[in-house]
Amino acid sequence: MAEDTARAFVCGHPVAHSRSPLIHGYWLQEHGIAGIYERQDVAPEAFETFLRNLADGPYVGGNVTIPHKQTAHRLVDRRDEAAEIIGAVNTLWFENGRLCGGNTDAYGFAANLDATAPGWAEGGVATVLGAGGAGRAVVHALRERSMRDIRIVNRTVARAEELAHRFAGPTSAHGWEALPDLLADTTLLVNTTSLGMAGAAPLALDLAPLPAPAVVTDIVYVPLETPLLAAASQRGLRTADGLGMLLHQAVPGFERWFGVRPQVTPALRDIVVADL
Ligand code: ATR
Repeated sequence: MAEDTARAFVCGHPVAHSRSPLIHGYWLQEHGIAGIYERQDVAPEAFETFLRNLADGPYVGGNVTIPHKQTAHRLVDRRDEAAEIIGAVNTLWFENGRLCGGNTDAYGFAANLDATAPGWAEGGVATVLGAGGAGRAVVHALRERSMRDIRIVNRTVARAEELAHRFAGPTSAHGWEALPDLLADTTLLVNTTSLGMAGAAPLALDLAPLPAPAVVTDIVYVPLETPLLAAASQRGLRTADGLGMLLHQAVPGFERWFGVRPQVTPALRDIVVADL
C-alpha cells in the first residue's frame, strides 16, 4: 500500500450492518482518492485499547458507532462543541498528534432538512419524539437553528425532563398523552425513537391536528418510508427521511480525513437505498 494512502474506519460492535463503508467508498471513488475506509469490529472491553493505540497508525481517523459513542466522548483528548453538548462522539481525527472527537449527527439532521425542506426552521415550533442519544443530537440542532419552542415527548417523562433541563431555554418535557394538543401548532415533527423501524413496534400517530405547512421527519431509515412519513405524505405534508440524515452526517468526516468536501447526490442515495 502506498505511504500516502489515507485510511479511515468505522468502529462498532457489531459493525457489519454499517452503511458508512458504502458511503465513503463511493466518495473515494468519485473523487479519485486512493484512500481506504474499512470496518473495525471492536468489542466494548477492547475499545479503550483500540483508541489508545490509534495514534500509532495506520488511520487518519474514523467513525464511532454503537456501542462506543459515549466511551469515545470520555476518552478523546479534545471534543468539538457538538460532541461536548450531545455527550457522544461519532467522528475521530488527529490534530497535532492529539485525538479529537466530534459529533456530526446534529449537522446531518439540519443539513438533510435544508436540502429537502428548505425553510423548515422558520415556523419555530418543534415536537421531538424520544429523549435518547438521537433526541439529544436533534434538540441541539434545533437550538442551533433558534427554534423558539422545542417540546420533547417521551414515554419515560423523566428522561425528557432531563434533556429539556440540559438544554434549558425554550425546551419543555411531556408524556405521549400530550401529543394531540402539541401537534396543533407544531411546525416540525421529528421521530427520534426506534418506533416504526423494521422489526420494532409501529409508530401510530394521528397526524390530523398538524397544521398544513408542517414538516415531518424521521431518523429511522429502514424502512425508508416509515409509517409516520407515509401518513405525513398522505396528508400532503413535506417530509424528510432518515437516510438523508445518515448521508449528510458523513460529509464532515470525509472532508477531515480525505481533504475534499463531498456532496450528497441522488446517485449516492440510490446506491445506499439499493443496499437497505
Ligand atoms: P438512541 O440513542 O438511538 O436514541 P435510546 O437511548 O435507547 O436510543 O432511546 C430510544 C428512544 O426511543 C427513547 O426515547 C425511548 O423511550 P424511553 O426513554 O421511554 O425508553 C424510545 N422508545 C423505544 N421504544 C419505545 C416504545 N416501545 N414506546 C415508546 N418509546 C420508545
